[in-house]
Amino acid sequence: MGDGSVDIRQEARARVFAQPIESLNPAQPELFRTDSHWPLFERLRAESPVHYSPPSEHYGPFWSISRYNDIMAVDTDHQAFSSADGITLPSIEAEAETNSRPTRPSFISMDPPRHDEQRKTVSPVVAPANLQRMEPLIRERAGLILDDLPIGEPFDWVDKVSMELTAMTLATLFDFPYEERRKLTYWSDMMTNAPGFGPVTSWAQKRTELDQCFAVFDDLWRERARQAPRFDLVSMLAHGEATRDMDEHEYHGNLGLLIIGGNDTTRNTISGSVYALNRFPAQYAMLRETPSLIPSMVSETIRWQTPLAHMRRTATRDVDFGGRTIREGDRVVMWYVSGNRDDTVIEDPDAYRIDRARPRMHLSFGFGIHRCVGNRLAELQLTIIWEEILRRFPVIELAGEPQRTHSIFVKGYETLPVIIPRRA
Ligand code: HEM
Repeated sequence: MGDGSVDIRQEARARVFAQPIESLNPAQPELFRTDSHWPLFERLRAESPVHYSPPSEHYGPFWSISRYNDIMAVDTDHQAFSSADGITLPSIEAEAETNSRPTRPSFISMDPPRHDEQRKTVSPVVAPANLQRMEPLIRERAGLILDDLPIGEPFDWVDKVSMELTAMTLATLFDFPYEERRKLTYWSDMMTNAPGFGPVTSWAQKRTELDQCFAVFDDLWRERARQAPRFDLVSMLAHGEATRDMDEHEYHGNLGLLIIGGNDTTRNTISGSVYALNRFPAQYAMLRETPSLIPSMVSETIRWQTPLAHMRRTATRDVDFGGRTIREGDRVVMWYVSGNRDDTVIEDPDAYRIDRARPRMHLSFGFGIHRCVGNRLAELQLTIIWEEILRRFPVIELAGEPQRTHSIFVKGYETLPVIIPRRA
């Protein structure tokens, strides 16, 4: 690679191993943007698997959990580790902004019983029966996206495929006007970014744009509430027993969750699959020879990419964990990105292998009561797109290095230059 990224990673490794262990702090978006976070987690797993980071310039204090089995233990103990105070580690600045505005609660940041009631209302829309109903439409629309791609000239895979496909699926889920689907991508980017990143230029602009997003969805709610119940998400929320009386902040919170939940994650897995198959060409060749490996390739990509680097909890009481005492009120970050590379559980975890014996054994969807409600939908989308890709293009080649996302939460790609060669 002539882009200097190898040097950056080697430097990062030398720096990490020269530092006193107490000073290691994974909450550094720049590490993720430069793909140089790996040595830090390698060292934490080996030497400090339950690790305390004191307040830093941009983040408050928190615990890091970096081993696979420890993450499972925290994730499945929602009594000791609550989601109600938020599920990401916010920067100090982002937290101040959130605290100055009414909160938009959603069921991902609730504990039982409210969590369970609201999750029950939303889950049928992404359950197997409904997915089967949506499959032909998703396949048809995916085909149209692929048939439109330029051949023999470089283009950005993120923009032309990953974003289009996820926007299309979300529009189908919400029954949102199809021609305006890219607004969903735009709003998701607005929600997840801080000023200076993605489309966000200032906190004020972010507020104005999101107010517009919610005004559009308020109209949709009123429209669907007047009509008979249908099988789209807004209609289900407007008619569901547990959700029809929720106040507007809660409605907006749940909408935000569904827009982000189904957007960044799947988008970055689609991009990650093209990137990984190019980095591991023997695996790409195996996939072309054996397309029945597509579902396990999809799961392996979700592990290898880990589209959400972490989820956060808050201790509800003092807990002795891994030889350390986590105090009531402390923030605990489960680094899925690290657990998915834990070689005591996953063999040769840095390698991308599309024929693993247990490909769904990974942490990327979380565990316990909050385990991703959209996991089957995500896998379906990825499977469809790859079935349609292999039908059309023998190969998609990288035409340069990707630009990665500047975030400790969303682990993905801003751009991914590719070229589909002309057939000889
Ligand atoms: C590869 C794609 C995806 C990944 C890696 C992913 C990851 C996750 C993770 C890690 C959680 C657990 C949160 C926690 O424990 O606090 C979660 C929850 C959730 N995801 Fe996904 N997700 C993906 C796709 C989707 C899709 C397509 C949707 C749907 C439209 C979706 C909607 C949700 C929702 C609503 C929750 C909250 C569940 C709850 O709190 O009970 N996700 N997701």
